[in-house]
Amino acid sequence: MSPASAASARTLPAVSALVGAGARGTAVPSPIAVGRLAANGVRTCCGQLLALETRALRKRLEGREVLAGVDLGIPEGSLAVVLGPPRSGKSALLKALVGLLEPDSGEVRVRDRPLGRMSRSEVLAVRRDIGVMFQEAGLFSSLTVFENVAFPLRQHTELREPQIRELVDAQLAAVGLAGAGARMPIELSRAMKKRVSLARALVLKPGIVVCDEPDRGIDGVRSALMGRLLAERHRRVGGTMVIATQDGALARTVADHVAVLWEGKLLASGPREAMVRCDDPVVQRVLAGAKLGAGA
Ligand SMILES: Nc1ncnc2c1ncn2[C@@H]1O[C@H](COP(=O)(O)OP(=O)(O)OP(=O)(O)O)[C@@H](O)[C@H]1O
Ligand SMILES: [Mg+2]
Repeated sequence: MSPASAASARTLPAVSALVGAGARGTAVPSPIAVGRLAANGVRTCCGQLLALETRALRKRLEGREVLAGVDLGIPEGSLAVVLGPPRSGKSALLKALVGLLEPDSGEVRVRDRPLGRMSRSEVLAVRRDIGVMFQEAGLFSSLTVFENVAFPLRQHTELREPQIRELVDAQLAAVGLAGAGARMPIELSRAMKKRVSLARALVLKPGIVVCDEPDRGIDGVRSALMGRLLAERHRRVGGTMVIATQDGALARTVADHVAVLWEGKLLASGPREAMVRCDDPVVQRVLAGAKLGAGA
C-alpha cells in the first residue's frame, strides 16, 4: 500500500463518537468531514513528508488512558499547533513524540523511521536534532542561565569555549535575554525562564523544535510576544516546529497545521485554512479558545 493510500485508510473516528459524554449537548453536525479532512490534509497534502508521526499511540498512566489511539502527522517544515484543554494529553503526546514517554502500544515515527526500533546511537542522533522546550521550563536550578543554554552544546559537541560562548550569547540575544547569562534561574520571572528554555532548545540548531505550552502561566502581552518569537524563528530558520497550547488564537494566526486533542484523542487535524473553515462546532470552539467540558 502506498503511503498516501495507507494514510487515507487511517481516517479518524467520527468526532461525535469521540466527543460523546464529555461534551453532552454539543451538536456535532459534520464529524465525517473532519475525519476526512484530517487524513487527507495531513498525509497527502502536496506529498509532504511527515517529520513526526504517531500511529495508534496508546498510553495508560495510573489506570487512566491518557493517549487513546492517537494518529497524528506533523508535516516536515510546518509550524504545527497541538491545541487542547487542560489534561487532554498534550504533554504526554509531546513527550512520546520526542522519546521521553514510552507508549504502551502503537508507534512514533521520526521522518518515517520507527523510534522504538532505533539503536541507542540512532536515538541519540534523533534527540540531538529535536529541541524541546518543556512546559515548566525545566531549567537546572543550580546552573546559571549561560550554563543552562550551553548544556546541550557540552553534551553533544566537542566545541571549544569561545565557540560555545558565541553560540550561547547569540541564542540569548535572539530570545531577548542578551546580558542575562550570569543570572540564576531563581532570579528570573516565569516568562524569562521560558525564554531561557527556548534558547536551550534552539542552541543546537535542531531540525525539529517541540514547545510545550510556551505561552502558559505568563501574562497576555508576554504570551503574545512568545507566540510571535516562535513564529518569527520558524519563518527565518525553517525546520519543523510543534507547539502545544490551549490558545486558539495561536492556532488561528501562526499555524500551518492544527491538531485538536481532547481526552487523549485526536478530535481533528489538518491544514489551518481547512480547520478554520471546518464547520464542526466543537473544533470551532476549541479554535476560538473556548473551554470544553461536560455540558460545554
Ligand atoms: N506521570 C503521570 N502519572 C499519572 N497520570 C498522569 C501523569 N502525567 C499525566 N497524567 C495524566 O494524564 C492526563 C493528560 O496529562 P497531560 O499533562 O498530558 O495533559 P495536558 O493536556 O498537557 O494538560 P495541561 O494543560 O494540564 O498541561 C491528565 O489527566 C494527567 O493527570
Ligand atoms: Mg501539559
